[in-house]
Amino acid sequence: MDIIHNEAVTASGLRVSMPVPGIVRVTDGNHKGSYMVSAKLRKSAPKREGERLTWGNISVEPENGMALYYEGKLLCADYPGVRQPKIPISQEELEQLMAEGHVPAGHLDAASVWKVEVCKQLPEDAVIYGLGDKTGFLNKRHYAYINWNTDDAKPHCDNFQSLYKSINFFMVYSKNGCMGILADNSYRSRFDFGKENEDYYFWSHADGALDYYMIPGKTPKDVLKRYLVLTGKSMLQQKWVYGFHQSRWSYYSPRELLEMVDTMRKNRLPMDAVHMDIDYMEGFRVFTFNEKRFSDPKGLTEALAQRNVKPITIIDPGVKLDPGYFMYDEGVAQGHFAKNPDGSIYEGAVWPGPSVFPDFSQEKTRLWWGEKLKILTDAGIRGIWNDMNEPADFTGQLPDDVQFAAGTHKELHNVYGHLMAKATYEGLMNADSRRPFVLTRACCAGSQKYCSGWTGDNHSMWQHLQLSLTQMMNLGLSGMYMVGSDVGGFGSDCTPELLARWFQLGAISPFFRDHYAKGTRNQEAYAFDEKTMDACRKALELRYHLLPYIYDLAHEEMPILRPLVLEYPDDPMCRELTDQCMLGDQLLAAPVMTPGVTARAVYLPKGVWYDYYTGKRYSGGKYILADAPADRMPLFAKAGAIIPTAKGMPQYVEEITEIVLEVFPGNGRHVHYMDDGETMDYQKGVVRTVNITVRGKNVAQKVTADGYPGPDSLEVKWMV
Ligand code: GLC
Repeated sequence: MDIIHNEAVTASGLRVSMPVPGIVRVTDGNHKGSYMVSAKLRKSAPKREGERLTWGNISVEPENGMALYYEGKLLCADYPGVRQPKIPISQEELEQLMAEGHVPAGHLDAASVWKVEVCKQLPEDAVIYGLGDKTGFLNKRHYAYINWNTDDAKPHCDNFQSLYKSINFFMVYSKNGCMGILADNSYRSRFDFGKENEDYYFWSHADGALDYYMIPGKTPKDVLKRYLVLTGKSMLQQKWVYGFHQSRWSYYSPRELLEMVDTMRKNRLPMDAVHMDIDYMEGFRVFTFNEKRFSDPKGLTEALAQRNVKPITIIDPGVKLDPGYFMYDEGVAQGHFAKNPDGSIYEGAVWPGPSVFPDFSQEKTRLWWGEKLKILTDAGIRGIWNDMNEPADFTGQLPDDVQFAAGTHKELHNVYGHLMAKATYEGLMNADSRRPFVLTRACCAGSQKYCSGWTGDNHSMWQHLQLSLTQMMNLGLSGMYMVGSDVGGFGSDCTPELLARWFQLGAISPFFRDHYAKGTRNQEAYAFDEKTMDACRKALELRYHLLPYIYDLAHEEMPILRPLVLEYPDDPMCRELTDQCMLGDQLLAAPVMTPGVTARAVYLPKGVWYDYYTGKRYSGGKYILADAPADRMPLFAKAGAIIPTAKGMPQYVEEITEIVLEVFPGNGRHVHYMDDGETMDYQKGVVRTVNITVRGKNVAQKVTADGYPGPDSLEVKWMV
């Protein structure tokens, strides 16, 4: 092993370095550049003792199976043996199964697909989190997945291997600590977390470089913090974005949209935004408005603004193949579209029929696309919803050899959505001074700095309500904090009870949007009976009541919605809890996700807890049975919780003017943030922070940053 420029080179040619404090990189040196990593890489010099390299509390033995020790404990090492699948299958058996339509997971890609592979020992007690929006539950151990951005309209269930997002980041948490791995390779990738064999986990790529980052820490929280240093912080949104969004595919006219908004307002159902789906366009041509139905977009957005509602429009990547249409003509003339190997433009099909695909890997294309956003922002549109950006193509997959400036489709498929989000983010950033709101379906590791995400086309099924909670928790553990699922379910028909329960989960979802497909039953909060509307209203009111607290969380380093393991890493009960979550570090929520129940079991970690609604005191470290009437989700505050809430009952975010601190006795602290809620000035210190501490029954408040005007102390309300 030699060390050249602070990088160790092993006998097999692997390079080992620490390019970011606390993070070890292993690469074969064949990397062209990264889409995922945004940190400045500066390799720091290791101390060398024999074959061991040490940087502070991290040591690596590159020639000894890349063993990594964190604070003296072995956290990660290559699997010394040869992989031994436990469920081998012959070609004949495979064909037999497939004859009836069974597709045995993991056997679709021939072994020869995988060119690059890393296999590590799996600690016996390890749980595994991450990979973004994958189906299943919180702990991914015993499962295998494929990262290949996939638009699959079938109801997503536990044996799905791929969904829309490809986040090559996961954490292996065992008694020796937590190991985060970012596999920095954009090709089709697979991850097997002890499914093939209990003794190891491995990941493979269909091509490209071997390049991965090992991010050690004591707990998942430590690892997540470092991962964000490497790939970028989850983006803070304008304050209204944390309010409620209503959407459907589609509100067909301004009249329908405004009627919906007026019905919400009349029924005192708080809201802040509406989403306009593909039918607002002229023949699904991006950056146009339908001339008959949406002939006066400015008039519409003004009417919405009068109602304090922000409009968001969908923009898909597919550009209609239509000579005479400005996007097509300009794109052809300026070389913005992906090509076939023979140099002709690749033609696929999406909503507009025959379509071509912008090459977002080119800076000039991102700029061109970004400038077009002005057409929408000038009309008063306040956010962009990027869909179909896996990219989805109704003619089938784009062929592997479709050419983009930076590489083939095979190489860039998984980062296409990321690059589109980047183009959109930068375009909005140039359009005005507000924080860009970009919602995306497809993305990769690192996209969190450009966009929020939603989990795509779920269904109105109780199983998908459950799935949505674990998806949001795993997305949070994968660095994407601003996420949500279609409340009420996108496909299939919703029921009143499902809608009410989904609104309750929505109330604590970072991104809270009700959205549903054409041809399915209406599912606005008022679409069913009075009882359902009341339950939905209570959920919306809870959301707006907690909004100042949620906005504080959005400023912080950790996910808004978190699995319990982030806050209670030492409690073994919390490692796999998949049906409860924390809203920040102070509130514990136990959404009801099965029909017909009015109580549910809730695990409270050690310590004192209070029922948020009644103030009833509980000692934790055990399960309790919590009341869960139809109009309420069990919610608990830990002792010493300080929750900034909205005074009164705001109907939209701007109506939140006064804050009341709800305080539960005990010892605790919280930082409350105030800023303009709109621009990037908070990054220049234009914020006001109040540090609040509670000791027993005493509250102290101290202003620690006064860059933004506001009160020095806030009204306190004792909850117990
Ligand atoms: C896709 C999206 C969905 C949208 C529809 C029409 O299915 O996931 O949210 O409503 O396309 O644009």
